Amino acid sequence: MTSQTTSPLTSLAPIGENSPGAEWWRTAVIYQVYPRSFADASGDGIGDLRGVTAHLSDLQELGVDAVWLSPFYRSPQHDAGYDVADYCDVDPLFGTLADFDEMLAAAHARGIRIIVDLVPNHSSDQHVWFREALAAAPGSAARARYLFRDGRGEGGDLPPNNWESVFGGPAWTRTTNPDDTPGQWYLHLFDSTQPDFDWSNPEVQEQFRGILRFWLDRGVDGFRVDVAHGLIKTDGLPDHVPAVDGDSMGGHDEAPYWAQDGVHEIYRDWHRVLAEYDGDRALCAEAWLPTVDRTAEWVRPDEMHQAFNFPYLMTEWDAPAIREVIAESLRAFPAVGAPATWVLSNHDVVRHASRLALTAENPQGHGIGPDSPGQPIPEVGLRRARAATTVMLALPGSAYLYQGEELGLPEVIDLPGDARQDPTWFRTDGERYGRDGCRVPIPWTADAPAYGFSPGGESWLPQPAEWATLARDVQEQDPESTLWLYRTLLATRRAEGLGAGRLEWTLGYGDDVIAFRTSTGSVTEGVTVIANISDAPIELPHGTVLAASEAFDGAHLPVDVAVWMHAG
Ligand code: BGC
Repeated sequence: MTSQTTSPLTSLAPIGENSPGAEWWRTAVIYQVYPRSFADASGDGIGDLRGVTAHLSDLQELGVDAVWLSPFYRSPQHDAGYDVADYCDVDPLFGTLADFDEMLAAAHARGIRIIVDLVPNHSSDQHVWFREALAAAPGSAARARYLFRDGRGEGGDLPPNNWESVFGGPAWTRTTNPDDTPGQWYLHLFDSTQPDFDWSNPEVQEQFRGILRFWLDRGVDGFRVDVAHGLIKTDGLPDHVPAVDGDSMGGHDEAPYWAQDGVHEIYRDWHRVLAEYDGDRALCAEAWLPTVDRTAEWVRPDEMHQAFNFPYLMTEWDAPAIREVIAESLRAFPAVGAPATWVLSNHDVVRHASRLALTAENPQGHGIGPDSPGQPIPEVGLRRARAATTVMLALPGSAYLYQGEELGLPEVIDLPGDARQDPTWFRTDGERYGRDGCRVPIPWTADAPAYGFSPGGESWLPQPAEWATLARDVQEQDPESTLWLYRTLLATRRAEGLGAGRLEWTLGYGDDVIAFRTSTGSVTEGVTVIANISDAPIELPHGTVLAASEAFDGAHLPVDVAVWMHAG
């Protein structure tokens, strides 16, 4: 019984008026805009900042508190903007600094905060510093901003160590000297166009303080920090001897380039920079770590404010596993004074409307294609995704949404090879499909060219024909749609104060049911949340249904359905 509410245009707490201890980021629902796939105002088939401004009313109507904007900086776009050539300018693809300022002001006027992406582990190879480094001699100050090393073996023909790129292949590329002889090698944990900075260099540290201030002065509310577990490498860059087969950002933190102690000093420094500014500015760590306890090390009181809860994202559709990660999160994050965070999708993982129905493991970033094992059944995936989101948005803390999940978009599995653009696809010769399937531009209007994404009908990745039925304007008309489910959940979350709630487990429904009550103790008697992950319907307590992930009779909760109730 997904009930239609009036549009949740409730006013947000005015920016700057949070009392200490009630900072906005402790409870916020933050919506990730992946600019190139959100909305294209210029008509070139790639989304842009004016497209974001034009749709802020839709985000306000959805009921989110803040937007995280993936990179829009000057970049040759070898990794969709995560290869930054100028950290203090907007790429012409996305607009201008004036467009950014206009978007920020328009968002703030609607009570929506904006956090931007900061990419400190590496720059683009087109960054002026890297060009200077290539032109300079080994051992020079210009090279010392990055990690250049001589090769091993005869003539330095072998890479300096055995590290592998997250995108596949070696993490080292050899340079060519001005006289065309082979030169030193440089480290890139990602694509060869993304050289890693040497964070032990004070010039690098100072550059990033300046970048933080540049955007803070413009008025941003915070930063999502890319690869926040990777900036410091073990001294001497020793070979990586994996304890577990395979490696990626998926959490094998024993590698000599992940989760080194030294990163924390960097974030203490940045914490002090943010504290110079008013308005509760925040840092959120993108740190892929194997456990919630490790992740909580990034949000100790003098470090970052939030960290993505990737152990939660990676939990399969299994009630005991979900209960366990929720319980661990609500213990580990508050233990260091930080809010728990929750996330199910982003631009690096298979969309949860497909992932939750996969029957084979799919490591983070590897993606799925037409011949991948364990193909998801779309109806099963969507049903589970709606139930998973219904559970997530009841949880105390801050939640992240990824654009398009409010439309129930699935992963696009059958993108043609020649359309794919993720460096993962190229660096593994098509062995890993990569992340393009979750990045397809979103459908706004069923009958418009490119479903309203771009006025001329262009779209940098092809949109599937089936997406006409998922377009936002179609879902607007359907009270049972995923869009209305999200609106209802977000409005109810706000009305019931769930982000600031306390969670108590409800026992007695059996192992395959997630059941809890969450309340603030002040706003209401609390909301009872029940998700049925067993193989048969369960009987519900008496009460009033506030929201449900699927229509049902109000008494018997079907399989793969979650409900919010005021239990009577
Ligand atoms: C970002 C990816 C990007 C990588 C390299 C990640 O964590 O989210 O999209 O490819 O960092 O910057």
